[in-house]
Amino acid sequence: MSLPSNLLNKFDSIIRGRGYSSRSEGIRDAIRAYIIEYEWMERESGEEIGTITYLYDHSQRGLGDQLTEAQHNYLDMIRTSTHIHLDEENCFEVIVMKGDAKRIKELAEKIMSLKGVKHVKLTTTHGGI
Ligand code: NI
Repeated sequence: MSLPSNLLNKFDSIIRGRGYSSRSEGIRDAIRAYIIEYEWMERESGEEIGTITYLYDHSQRGLGDQLTEAQHNYLDMIRTSTHIHLDEENCFEVIVMKGDAKRIKELAEKIMSLKGVKHVKLTTTHGGI
């Protein structure tokens, strides 16, 4: 395997900063993360565990109700959720879901589409890796 030196230098500095004991450990983790992400994008169905985290402006009219309503449509899959009042303007929420991959993605996309939601991140994983 050959890599351009600037790419490798960047990678080495990241894994050093994150406390990896060796480059191969970092490479293993990076490959694992790549596979999970790729499989996720390819996956249309199947059982997954996912978290949706997002930041939103709580003064946006109607947004709180819209977020609650969206979550109630997936109540069979939501295992837990947490709300943090971040500052004067922002709220931060984490939703943990287990169930059909397609529906986890669907809720993330729904939240993403709401006005006043500033940042959404979806992470997923499943067994067997
Ligand atoms: Ni809040």
